[in-house]
Amino acid sequence: MNIYTFKDDESFVETAASIISSLVHVNPHAKLGLATGSTPVGLYAKLIEMHRKGLVSFAGVTTYNLDEYVGLPENHPESYRTFMNEKFFNHIDIPLEQTHVPNGNAEDLEEECRQYDQMLDTYGPVDIQLLGLGHNGHIGFNEPGDSLSGATHLVELQEKTRTANARFFPSIDDVPTHAITIGVASIMKARQILLLVRGEDKAEIVHRALKGPITTQCPASLLQCHPNVVVLLDQGAGRLLV
Ligand code: F6R
Repeated sequence: MNIYTFKDDESFVETAASIISSLVHVNPHAKLGLATGSTPVGLYAKLIEMHRKGLVSFAGVTTYNLDEYVGLPENHPESYRTFMNEKFFNHIDIPLEQTHVPNGNAEDLEEECRQYDQMLDTYGPVDIQLLGLGHNGHIGFNEPGDSLSGATHLVELQEKTRTANARFFPSIDDVPTHAITIGVASIMKARQILLLVRGEDKAEIVHRALKGPITTQCPASLLQCHPNVVVLLDQGAGRLLV
């Protein structure tokens, strides 16, 4: 595991963007596993900027997102499909049909999970999986517990996750209670993992995930078993690592 801590936002974002753009330069048909949330917003903005300057093209790239809320209309401002379109896809040259986000409005959600998984099995593994880290140690929406699912599945979001995400909604009551997430097996199959974490409020969970015991009670701790993980932290998030 290669862990880097950055003093300033600009170098944090530039490093993340250069990891993704170099991969796309070497392989213009790269498969990218993408994440939402506040952490990768700067990375997406930097990649858009690089694309506008003619430094990177995503025309041949295929993307697979980690997760989606259940029950938000696709064009809801907080659906992860809307997030990805607005924060990234609409500003680069990727055809939208090469982008994939689970459908949280599928009539048969179990079947949607099965099909998303089958797609990942058929076209995966992704060349790089971008991840953020939840305050409770979740990756994707794989919440801590006595066991974890390997496959794409329907998950009930924990109170801590809903509270953290309430900042994007009018109130906590508007935060969906369920989501679809890819499982830890799919995450672990990625050729490379790029974990981004910022903020002092994540310092404790960063320490547990990277230095603590490997346990389903902290899903991100499983990343310690992956052979190719790059972790980028800001100083706040890396505070407890020595
Ligand atoms: C998002 C996702 C989540 C977030 C995590 C951190 O697709 O899967 O695991 O990465 O909740 O969110 P932020 O970046 O908002 O702190």
